[in-house]
Amino acid sequence: MTTTLITGGTVVTPSGAVVADVLVDGETIAAVFAPGLGPVGVDTVLDATGKYVIPGGIDVHTHMQLPFGGTFASDTFATGTRAAAFGGTTTIIDFAVQRTGEVVQDGLAAWHAKAAGESFVDYGFHMILGGVDDDALKAMDQLVADEGITSFKLFMAYPGVFYSDDGQILRAMQRARDNGALIMMHAENGIAIDVLVQQALARGETDPVFHGLTRPPALEAEATHRAIVLSGVARDCPLYFVHLSASGALEQVAAARDAGRNVFAETCPQYLYLTLEDQLGAPGFEGAKWVASPPLRSRDESHRADLWKGLRSNDLAIVSTDHCPFCMKEQKELGLGNFSKIPNGIGTVEHRVDLVYQGVVDGKLSLERWVETIATTPARMFGLYPRKGVIAPGSDADIVVYDPNGHTTIGVATHHMNMDHSAWEGYEIDGRVETVLSRGEVIVDSGGFHGAAGRGRFLRRGLSSYLV
Ligand code: URP
Ligand code: ZN
Ligand code: ZN
Repeated sequence: MTTTLITGGTVVTPSGAVVADVLVDGETIAAVFAPGLGPVGVDTVLDATGKYVIPGGIDVHTHMQLPFGGTFASDTFATGTRAAAFGGTTTIIDFAVQRTGEVVQDGLAAWHAKAAGESFVDYGFHMILGGVDDDALKAMDQLVADEGITSFKLFMAYPGVFYSDDGQILRAMQRARDNGALIMMHAENGIAIDVLVQQALARGETDPVFHGLTRPPALEAEATHRAIVLSGVARDCPLYFVHLSASGALEQVAAARDAGRNVFAETCPQYLYLTLEDQLGAPGFEGAKWVASPPLRSRDESHRADLWKGLRSNDLAIVSTDHCPFCMKEQKELGLGNFSKIPNGIGTVEHRVDLVYQGVVDGKLSLERWVETIATTPARMFGLYPRKGVIAPGSDADIVVYDPNGHTTIGVATHHMNMDHSAWEGYEIDGRVETVLSRGEVIVDSGGFHGAAGRGRFLRRGLSSYLV
């Protein structure tokens, strides 16, 4: 087995930052030593003096090749996970899809087929339930018991596509309460939104910005509240809100958590940095780059400041990306002249570790909380801890050496995602991913990329640590 000693770096975990040497033996972390006390005679010494040594990032919300709006998200498991690795993310959890009328296990098999032999980093799946019926409920039990899939996404949005009504949601929550799974909720009132969309189109309002204006924050807050009420009826079924974007929705989550409820939430970098006016409202069709649901929120309201605060207070536990890239050419362009036909999604899987780190530089988040929100809590929330998400003996040696004195300029010319534009063009980060190890193997360093497609393994996940 190959041994590597990472020396002199500052090892950051949620409980603190300390200078230490990390010994990697084969695929796992063997020991953490006080500086200089590690063994001699290892195969490789990796000098991390002046750098942070952190657990590899875990992005719990990606959509490789998601079918949406008549096209497919443009990253495959190969292109998307390679890009993820460049950005310091060594595990993704992607969403397998059961379309309405499809057998859940068939949807899962299709996702395994997409990922097998392709992925550069380890990966797990959540399951999107596009049709909750008796068979789907039984399938939930089977996926939890046998397949290592312990979280299910439901949609209060997208009527006619992924939408579940309140009765379906309640039934799935009751089932999850019994089998220990986590319900992940896309909380937007899709029925009301569709009315606003039709009214806007009838007025001739077709530009991308109307995507945002027809999905007001109140309809995210309302759906968030309704989902919390339904999960209460389902005996406090564990409930996790994906891609939370707005102050009102966060208030609902915070109130539920204050009341001791099993309610959790994530947000995404786009909601922490980008706005309805500055990006979605860009001239002409340019704003299509930022069409995603929920939409970017107004810079004139308190959303971004409240989301950073929510990350500090743990009402927002995780930063994921909701990575769902579409090219402008032939994909976003499907919505020229009708914003409702623009495929929904933004690509960020490569930049999450950097963008959240910039929050540390800007004084919005502590170093410890950076690691907690991008790696440790994702592992705990989704049944991967302590195998992933921590630098400790016995854990997988998924490790990022991060240079706080480095610099990263984001843009389409340098990114590795399969996109013809960047939603983050020109963003400057006061730090840089220097070296990335995935299960002990250096897959990214100053010499470039060294991983191989198919080296990433499927992760059978356990239940959430927060509930057992
Ligand atoms: O716009 C988005 N978020 N696209 C991906 C699908 C989803 O709802 O997460
Ligand atoms: Zn969603
Ligand atoms: Zn998503």
